[in-house]
Amino acid sequence: MIELPLPTELFSRRANRPVAARIIHLPTEDAARKVDSVWWTSLGGKTRKNEIDGAWDWALTVQACQWDWYTDCYAIETLEDGEIQGAMAVYAAAWSILAPGQLALDVARLATAPQNRAWLPLSESAPLYQGVGSALPTHAILWSKDLRLEGRLILNVRKRDYAHGFYIRRGFVATNRVFDDRVLLELPAQP
Ligand SMILES: CC(C)(COP(=O)(O)OP(=O)(O)OC[C@H]1O[C@@H](n2cnc3c(N)ncnc32)[C@H](O)[C@@H]1OP(=O)(O)O)[C@@H](O)C(=O)NCCC(=O)NCCS
Repeated sequence: MIELPLPTELFSRRANRPVAARIIHLPTEDAARKVDSVWWTSLGGKTRKNEIDGAWDWALTVQACQWDWYTDCYAIETLEDGEIQGAMAVYAAAWSILAPGQLALDVARLATAPQNRAWLPLSESAPLYQGVGSALPTHAILWSKDLRLEGRLILNVRKRDYAHGFYIRRGFVATNRVFDDRVLLELPAQP
C-alpha cells in the first residue's frame, strides 16, 4: 500500500527552479473547487473543445470512483500555493494487450492543468510547471507494482496529440487497439 501524500518535485518555469509538490488522493471538493472551477476559466470555448480533456468533469469522475474499490483519483499539488497542477483517474485492472492473460492498471484519465501546456495561451511563460505528466504515471507504475501487475499500465491517447509522442518517448508501446482517432498505449512490465 503506497502512503499518500507522497512528496515529489515539479519544475517551475517562472522561478526557474524545482519546487516541492505532493501527490494526493483527489477529494471531490478539491476536484470541483481547484480543478473544474479554475482550470479553464480564462480559455475560450474553442480552445477548450480542442483539448481531449476539455469536457471532463473531475468532480463527477471522483464521485464515480468513491464507492469503487478498484478505482482511484489522484492529483499533484504544488506546496507553495496549494494549487492542483494535474489529475489522474486509475482503474484496477484491465487486460494487458502486450501480455495476454496478464492485467494492467488502466490510466483512464490524466491531464496537467492547462497552464502547464506549452501550446495553450494561458501564461506568458507557459508551461508554468513541468513534470506533471511524468510524476503521475510514475505513481501509477508504483501502484501497479504494488498490485503485482509488474508496472504494466494502459492509457488511451489521440494519435495527433502531444501526449502520443510524450508517452511513446517514455516507453509506452502503441497497441493494435485503435478507436477512431485514439490508440491504446501500453507500458510493458517494468524491471
Ligand atoms: C500529456 C501530458 C499529460 C504531459 O504532461 P506534462 O506535464 O506536460 O509533462 P512533463 O512536464 O512531465 O513533460 C513535458 C516536457 O517537459 C520536459 N520536462 C519535464 N520536466 C522538466 C524539467 N525539470 N526541466 C526541463 N524539461 C522538463 C519533459 O522532458 C517533456 O519533454 P518531451 O516532450 O520532449 O519529452 C499533458 O500534455 C496533458 O495533460 N495533455 C492533455 C491531456 C492528455 O492528452 N492526456 C493524456 C491522455 S489521458
